[in-house]
Amino acid sequence: MNNNVFRNLSYGVYIVSCFDGEKYTGCTVNSIMQITSSPSAIALSVNHDNYTNECLDKTKKFAVSILSEKSNPISIGTFGFRSGRDTFKFSNIPFEMKNYMPVIKDACGYLICEIINKVETTTHTLFIANVIDGDVLNSEVPMTYSYYHNVIKGKSPKAAPTYIEN
Ligand SMILES: Cc1cc2nc3c(=O)[nH]c(=O)nc-3n(C[C@H](O)[C@H](O)[C@H](O)COP(=O)(O)O)c2cc1C
Repeated sequence: MNNNVFRNLSYGVYIVSCFDGEKYTGCTVNSIMQITSSPSAIALSVNHDNYTNECLDKTKKFAVSILSEKSNPISIGTFGFRSGRDTFKFSNIPFEMKNYMPVIKDACGYLICEIINKVETTTHTLFIANVIDGDVLNSEVPMTYSYYHNVIKGKSPKAAPTYIEN
C-alpha cells in the first residue's frame, strides 16, 4: 500500500477547545467532518494519549475554532505540540467566549458542539457531536491542511491521525 495516497485527502485546520473542570484547554486537529445538516452533527478523531480526549469524554462539550490563512500559526503550535496536562494553552492566545467556551480570536468561524456518541479505534476515539451553535467571524479564506504543510511549512506530530513517517 502507498501511504502517500492519504495526502490526497483534504482537511481544514482547527483548534478544539474544552474545559477540564479547572481550566480551558484543547488541541489542534485536522480530523473534523460534517456528518449531517439537520440536526447538524460533526465527527472528530482524537488520540487516546491526548489530554483533550479525557476532557471531552468527561465534559461532553467543546468549541471548534475554524482557522483561516490569516490566523496566527502560533496557535497551531501551542495547541498542537504541547499538552494541556501541564500547560495553560490560552495564556498567550487571544480568545473570546462564545456559549461559555473559548474561541480563538482570529478564527474565521466557530462551532459549539455537544458529544452524543463515540467510537473507539486502536489509537483514536471518534467523537460524534451535535452542533448547537456557530457563526462566521470574518471573510478570510479557511486554512486547509495542505496550506498548513505547503505554505506555512508546518509539521504534524505522531498523535495526528494523518501522521505519516518520513
Ligand atoms: C496540524 C495538526 C493537526 C492535528 N490533528 C490532530 C487530530 O486530528 N487529532 C488528534 O488527536 N491530534 C491531532 N494533532 C495533535 C494534537 O494537537 C497534539 O497531540 C496536542 O499536543 C495534544 O494536546 P493535549 O494533550 O493537550 O490534548 C494535530 C496537530 C497538528 C499540529
